[in-house]
Amino acid sequence: MILHEAIRLYTPVTMLVRETCKDVKLQGLHIPANTPLILAVIANHHDTKIWGEDADKFNPLRFCEPRKHSSSFFPWGLGPRTCVGQKLALVEIKLVLAVIIRQFSFVDELGNVVACKSPELQCS
Ligand code: HEM
Repeated sequence: MILHEAIRLYTPVTMLVRETCKDVKLQGLHIPANTPLILAVIANHHDTKIWGEDADKFNPLRFCEPRKHSSSFFPWGLGPRTCVGQKLALVEIKLVLAVIIRQFSFVDELGNVVACKSPELQCS
C-alpha cells in the first residue's frame, strides 16, 4: 500500500502516448486515424473525482478500499504494452526502502524502542 501510494503521488512515468491506427469513435467523439493521444497518467493519479479531496495527500490506506474505476491507477501502463519490469521494479523499491529504514530507530507511543537502528550504522 505504501509503495502504491508513493507511485500514485509521485508517478515516475507521467504520460503515455498512443496513436490511432484507424478512425475511432470515443464516447461520441470522432478521432481520425494517425492522431496522437496523450494519456496524462499523473493527472489521473491526482484527480479529486477519483481519489477524493485529499488526492494530493500521502495516504496508503486509500488502497484498502476497492477502486472506483479499474483504470484509475496505471503507473505501469495499460494493455498489451504494460511494463515488463514491474515486478523487478517493485523488488528494487522494497530493497531501497529496507536500506533506508536500517538507518532509523522506531519508538512506539509509550516510548519503547520497537526497532533499533542497525548497530553497524550507529555513530559513537
Ligand atoms: C518504477 C519503475 C518503473 C515504472 C513506473 C515503469 C513504467 C513503465 C510504463 C508506464 C511503461 C509503458 C507501458 C505502456 O506503454 O502502456 C513501461 C514499459 C516498459 N518497461 Fe517499465 N517501468 C519501471 C521499471 C522498469 C524496469 C525496472 C524495467 C526492466 C528492467 C522496465 C522495462 C520496461 C519495458 C521493456 C517496457 C516496454 C514494454 C513494451 O513496450 O512491451 N521497466 N514501463
